Amino acid sequence: MPVMTAIIPARIDFESGTPRSPAFDDIYHSADGGLPQARTVFLEGNGLPQRWAGKPVFQILETGFGIGLNFLATWLAWLQQGDVERCGRLHFVSVEKHPPLRKDLVRALSPYGDVREQAAQLVAAWPPLVAGLHRLEFEAGRIVLTLALGHAAACLPQLTLAADAVYLDGFAPARNPDMWDAALLRHVARLCAPDATLATWCVAGAVRRALEHEGFSVSRQPGFGHKRERLVAHFDRIPRNAFPRRNASGRNPVLAHALNGPSSPGHALIVGAGIAGCLMAESLARRGWTIDLIDRHPAPAQEASGNPAGILRPVLSKDDNLASRLGRAAFLHSLRTLDRLQAATGLVEQRRCGVLHLAQDETQAALQEAIVNAQRYPDDYVRMLDASEASRLAAGSPAHGGWLFPGGGWVNPPSVCRAALAAGASRVRTHWNTTVDRLAFDGSWRALAADGTPLAEAPLAILAAGAHAHEFRHTAHLPLQCIRGQISLLNPDPFPEGTPVICGDGYVISGLAEGLCVGATYDTDDDPMPRDSSTQENLARLERLVREVVRTHSGRVGFRSVARDRMPLAGPLPGQEGLHALMGMASRGLVWSSLCAELVACWVAGEPLPLEWDIVQAIAPARFGAASR
Ligand SMILES: Cc1cc2nc3c(=O)[nH]c(=O)nc-3n(C[C@H](O)[C@H](O)[C@H](O)COP(=O)(O)OP(=O)(O)OC[C@H]3O[C@@H](n4cnc5c(N)ncnc54)[C@H](O)[C@@H]3O)c2cc1C
Ligand SMILES: C[S@@+](CC[C@H](N)C(=O)[O-])C[C@H]1O[C@@H](n2cnc3c(N)ncnc32)[C@H](O)[C@@H]1O
Repeated sequence: MPVMTAIIPARIDFESGTPRSPAFDDIYHSADGGLPQARTVFLEGNGLPQRWAGKPVFQILETGFGIGLNFLATWLAWLQQGDVERCGRLHFVSVEKHPPLRKDLVRALSPYGDVREQAAQLVAAWPPLVAGLHRLEFEAGRIVLTLALGHAAACLPQLTLAADAVYLDGFAPARNPDMWDAALLRHVARLCAPDATLATWCVAGAVRRALEHEGFSVSRQPGFGHKRERLVAHFDRIPRNAFPRRNASGRNPVLAHALNGPSSPGHALIVGAGIAGCLMAESLARRGWTIDLIDRHPAPAQEASGNPAGILRPVLSKDDNLASRLGRAAFLHSLRTLDRLQAATGLVEQRRCGVLHLAQDETQAALQEAIVNAQRYPDDYVRMLDASEASRLAAGSPAHGGWLFPGGGWVNPPSVCRAALAAGASRVRTHWNTTVDRLAFDGSWRALAADGTPLAEAPLAILAAGAHAHEFRHTAHLPLQCIRGQISLLNPDPFPEGTPVICGDGYVISGLAEGLCVGATYDTDDDPMPRDSSTQENLARLERLVREVVRTHSGRVGFRSVARDRMPLAGPLPGQEGLHALMGMASRGLVWSSLCAELVACWVAGEPLPLEWDIVQAIAPARFGAASR
């Protein structure tokens, strides 16, 4: 089953009192009450909340997110416990093919006073309904919802977690057979940790037999409401030592961690304090890790991440390829990360003014329109504007329309670095003016200066060294290229407040204190100084995009690190135990870094991965082989 799917939101009928799906001809929860059903069938059926008590991380997998009542009941149960009984982080991973529109979610959840506050937070965080994984955090990151939007049969094989508990909650098997078939239940079992439990209201013989076949012991319990029975199951028929074989060759690193990993937060050293390294440090600090963050400069964001502004936008493609899927998930994740950091520190300088990607000719305009229509993107993600709509937003009366990404905008990357370091401050030791010459491993990783002086030591090391990332022995084999880029800052900025970022061949960002930002060049030389020929290129871009001429200017040069396949590198470096990469951020580091950092953090902390497995592989450093010893 292909991963790519246009998401068709649920149609919900509210007339009969209990929300009902006309498409499936079934109700979303028992007519005897949604929250009580969640508590009896799913929580009690899995021995919750008691079973998560005292655990650092607990992982729940659900089939069928629906209107989120099971999630809210689980969140409330966690809240109602004291801090000692609660687990440290509760991951709730749920797949859903037809998520409700935000307005329907509001209506469906409005009767539930017990979870009013949590429902309001869920509604506020509800993402644009686009395919893929959406990671939403609540309770300062201690409740983590990963919504996998798409067909369960396509999503489950792409998930990576080690579920401690499972909620099976499709519509009734007769009306919704896809959600209960043996192949799907095999994938559920693949994602279970040893001793996982499973619960459902469904006691159909075929479901019981399929679960038993996958290694569950199944029993029937008195049902909830008018139902005679419900099902509970225990994943206990597979010997513990058979688990690594069930998940051969590192296919499920989260499960490998559950079987062998350290149970307490660790200590990592990170080389590089650009946006990648700073977000990496914050991501681990939030999980209780201690970090040594090392950079050759006296402050963060002095190299590629030092521009006064960069664009936040996704990329779209006709075939919704891996780069588009990564870009979509990363774009939405970075918006949430920036909002979270802004709420925590007030330091993030950004504008969500929208991004308008103008078509350069009729053919491109037609292609842009075809992509939006074929993939049925919702308006809050992207919409196609015709030339006259575009000219109302953009200066210069564009000849063609283009894509408007209403949630996009620009951000000042140094401010993100400062915010990340402020948020993680108590756990991040910074080492400024410190150049790492090499890394050495003797049971733990040591960062060494050129004269051999040890700079920091930790069991885990992460290279986030931007354009210098390939200068280490362990990364020298990677096909990374440095691409020079110069932006121009022009004064005065002629555009009114709220003008969107305009893209096409290059971009124009308005609204910065430093002036109008126009960029950027792509050069293969290594000249670190701004030069006039690059300025002329940018001025020509400005004229083409918005037909403006602004003459007073200054410039800034940065170097992008670009992999041969133009995808980032995030994950373990093969054959180097405990050494991870977060590099190759190319021209998209402001969009990619937060999700890539989250991926590396989940990998090392043994938490559900925030990306589909095919994307995880597409950005794994292992795709380029291992360094020679
Ligand atoms: C002109 C230009 C325009 C761009 N526009 C956009 C945009 O609009 N949107 C977008 O998403 N992205 C954009 N990018 C890309 C984005 O800026 C980068 O992808 C991102 O900043 C890379 O971040 P980083 O942390 O990987 O690298 P960097 O910011 O370069 O950080 C690497 C850090 O590692 C440190 N370091 C390296 N080696 C060592 C060592 N041996 N010892 C100690 N410290 C070391 C360096 O000092 C540096 O601080 C643009 C890039 C350029 C150049
Ligand atoms: C009974 S409802 C889930 C109720 C939900 N757990 C709650 O707490 O509100 C069943 C859900 O399964 C979803 N569903 C049906 N078929 C699916 C499929 N093939 N893949 C993913 N989700 C599916 C439906 O859209 C519906 O939202």
